[in-house]
Amino acid sequence: MNILIIGSGAREHAFCWKLKESNKAKDIFVAPGNSGTAKIASNLSIDVLNFKALKNSILNLSINLVIVGPEIPLIEGIVDFINSDIELTSVLVVGPSKAGAMLEGSKDFSKEFMFNHNIPTAKYKSFNCDNLDKGLAYLDTIPPPYVLKADGPAAGKGVLIIDNLKDAKNELINMLKNNKFGASGHNVVIEEFLDGIELSCFVLTDGKSYKILPYAKDYKRIGEGDKGLNTGGMGAVSPVPFASKEFLSKVEERIIKPTIEGLKLDNLPYKGFVFIGLIMVNNEPYVIEYNVRMGDPETQVVLPRVKTDFLELMISTAKGSLSECDMEIIEETYSNIVMVAGGYPENYEKGNVITGIPEDTENTIIFHAGTKSINNDVLTNGGRVLSIVSKGQDHNEAISKSYKVVEKINYKDKNYRKDIGFDL
Ligand code: AMP
Ligand code: GLY
Repeated sequence: MNILIIGSGAREHAFCWKLKESNKAKDIFVAPGNSGTAKIASNLSIDVLNFKALKNSILNLSINLVIVGPEIPLIEGIVDFINSDIELTSVLVVGPSKAGAMLEGSKDFSKEFMFNHNIPTAKYKSFNCDNLDKGLAYLDTIPPPYVLKADGPAAGKGVLIIDNLKDAKNELINMLKNNKFGASGHNVVIEEFLDGIELSCFVLTDGKSYKILPYAKDYKRIGEGDKGLNTGGMGAVSPVPFASKEFLSKVEERIIKPTIEGLKLDNLPYKGFVFIGLIMVNNEPYVIEYNVRMGDPETQVVLPRVKTDFLELMISTAKGSLSECDMEIIEETYSNIVMVAGGYPENYEKGNVITGIPEDTENTIIFHAGTKSINNDVLTNGGRVLSIVSKGQDHNEAISKSYKVVEKINYKDKNYRKDIGFDL
């Protein structure tokens, strides 16, 4: 089977690495990929939103299966594009329809979905520039901190958590009137602040049945002790030690089952991953958000724990026969330390030479994100540069193995969090 993976992050490198374990996998292509995917598959220099060029490659390279990594092509309807093209009728695709991708594409849509299907989440109200006055008055009625969310996709930057009322009101005006976050912020969800600890839940569904992947925890802030700006993710661990069996069964009953049932009831075609961002408050689970893809940096610690042939899982998802598969999970502990460019998540340099990247070993795998190869050099090419993933007897061991490798890898202004796992 020939496979096309769309995306260029460490998540997509991990997909590629995992699919290669399957003896059904023949040629694997990644569009556009990175220096790591180039080593184990073939990169195609095509933008993830250039659907026409992707279609040409699917035809020319006899691709049988497409797996979509990032959310933007999903929100823009790549799955509907492939499924509705008569030249592509035999191509299998993993990813939700455009309608299903609204779970991530619009915060307002996803909040309404949760309320309609009785899925526990923070209380909320939505406002636009026509009822800005009501939004300002609503802020007067709720306690701080104030959670303001741009409705549309904003690359993880559209959520503001603000301690004082005056700043919250100013930010609401900035989003609704002054175009902060552009069109994504023309509708704003204001929601109740939930105080708890977060974890990531990943579900694979063919729209009828579902399988739960290993749970993970990511570290979103740039600074140690979870301080500073939000990033794409600075590290991850799996499993999640504080998630008890009892808690996870509440997650399945109250959140996963009604989510899959809700997709069916609302006619949202969905054959792909549902990433449920959870928060545990007094041992009760609430949904913070849905994403319609796998998480990054979580995928890099989740996939090594999947024992079932991953390609089989992908094919069954796309064909709608997931109920015939098992999901076998390995009881192993993985950590991921993300190495980033200095300055990230704000301005940073690209094009710095990376030295000291070791070969993968049985215990440590290096997944590339923002990297590219020029001649024999590997250069930085993005904010998040590498994911260093290690296996250990426990979290301490896994994390310290990753840090040993991190210390050997060098490039100008390298940065990483030194406290991944501090709270476990
Ligand atoms: P989101 O993009 O909706 O996942 O929000 C980004 C981050 O903001 C989350 O990972 C949480 O850390 C935080 N956050 C979002 N909504 C809330 C909430 N209602 N209460 C507390 N923290 C929140
Ligand atoms: N790790 C969070 C995300 O992928 O959005």
